[in-house]
Amino acid sequence: MGFKAQETEYHVPTQEEIDASIAKYGRDIYNDFDLDAPVFNDQHYDILDDLVERCPVAHSTVGEGYYLATQNKVVREVGQNWRTFSAAKGYMPNRPEGLPYLYPEESDPPLHTAWRTALNPFMGPATIKEYEATIRADANKLIDAFIDRGECEFVSEMGALLPGWAFFKNVLGVPIEDLDKLVDGVEDGTFNPDPVVRGEKFGYVFQYLGEYLAKRAQEPPRGDMVDMIAAGVTYEDGTESAWADRVSVLVDMTFGGIATTTYVMAGGLHWLATNPDARKLLISDMDTYMPRAIEEFARVFPPVVALGRTCTKDVELGGRSLKEGDYVMMVYGAASRDPRVVEDPKKIDITRETVLHSAFGVGIHRCIGSNLARLELRATFEEWLKRIPEYSVKPGGEPVYVSGFLRSMRSCTFQW
Ligand code: HEM
Repeated sequence: MGFKAQETEYHVPTQEEIDASIAKYGRDIYNDFDLDAPVFNDQHYDILDDLVERCPVAHSTVGEGYYLATQNKVVREVGQNWRTFSAAKGYMPNRPEGLPYLYPEESDPPLHTAWRTALNPFMGPATIKEYEATIRADANKLIDAFIDRGECEFVSEMGALLPGWAFFKNVLGVPIEDLDKLVDGVEDGTFNPDPVVRGEKFGYVFQYLGEYLAKRAQEPPRGDMVDMIAAGVTYEDGTESAWADRVSVLVDMTFGGIATTTYVMAGGLHWLATNPDARKLLISDMDTYMPRAIEEFARVFPPVVALGRTCTKDVELGGRSLKEGDYVMMVYGAASRDPRVVEDPKKIDITRETVLHSAFGVGIHRCIGSNLARLELRATFEEWLKRIPEYSVKPGGEPVYVSGFLRSMRSCTFQW
């Protein structure tokens, strides 16, 4: 069944497809979706593939309800039109009351433009390149700690640590002794299954970063991103950014920088452990294949599964009618597996010359940290493969995943 909307033929799931979904997943993923349902963790890719193939815009009845844009074209329609799909009411559905908004993520122009313009130079390729030696040295320091043991639990011993070290040391310049607590705070503030613990940890990170920003505002300037944030920006109407806005920017950068890259690292290394031919090919010519592998791993192990926007007016989307105030998630993880734009999307292939993916988002909120993320990924894969070219998954140490609007790996043990 299908019908015309704009110039595209959009499919609507048939009763047969709905019945098949209920048989396979225990629920109708097209009309009764739930990001937090355990089945979305356990059968993650099957669900993304069914959504992107059969349902351009799905619906969830959880809380106030939300829509999910799944196909590449529809995700781009949302991400590239901030006037109709606003980020100012938050990036997650059913947002708890009273949570402070994170800027620039949860804002629209002109506030968003003011902050992005000021932040961009600090995250550009030239600045990030300066961190390369430290990040590679840190990758090696982490490997030093476990290499002689012949095994490691990758996530806790490397994957969850390196992005935090890279960000806090290089970008924020926070004291080394505070690293562990901060990294834990961000990890638990994002992934702890208990919302009370999540709130506490989130609160700790917010408080730490607020105090750090205040301290740095009193110190001689270092010319870095923290100085710029502490000094603030001037908004379009001539007012100076409030102190709370500045803390919110620092928190947003931090959460973005830490809760994401781990999954691409862990997913990629796990896949290489179980695909020795591809691993050998990669090791044989890292210059050619590493950049391709990094993009392919970002495509197939996307940490940001879905983020949302609020409709500012009634709008047609993917053949559905959305109303002003409706909430719609862009399922980046599904858009990167859209057979309409990616050939053979279920296949993981590190030799693809161009990898079209939406892992870093689309439109004005496109990830500001992508240069840093790519450097962390390159340092991790290269340093690991140089020192541990032969490794496998330890029996009993298979990956454990956690999924919602973000996805990550909780643990995976390798041996060599
Ligand atoms: C593989 C790693 C990463 C992935 C897959 C990723 C993914 C994303 C995505 C999908 C968005 C778009 C959000 C939206 O549409 O609303 C985004 C935005 C953002 N990311 Fe990343 N990210 C990664 C790493 C990083 C790092 C390392 C940093 C910081 C150092 C960072 C900071 C941010 C920030 C601040 C935003 C908001 C930008 C804005 O609203 O203009 N991310 N990221």
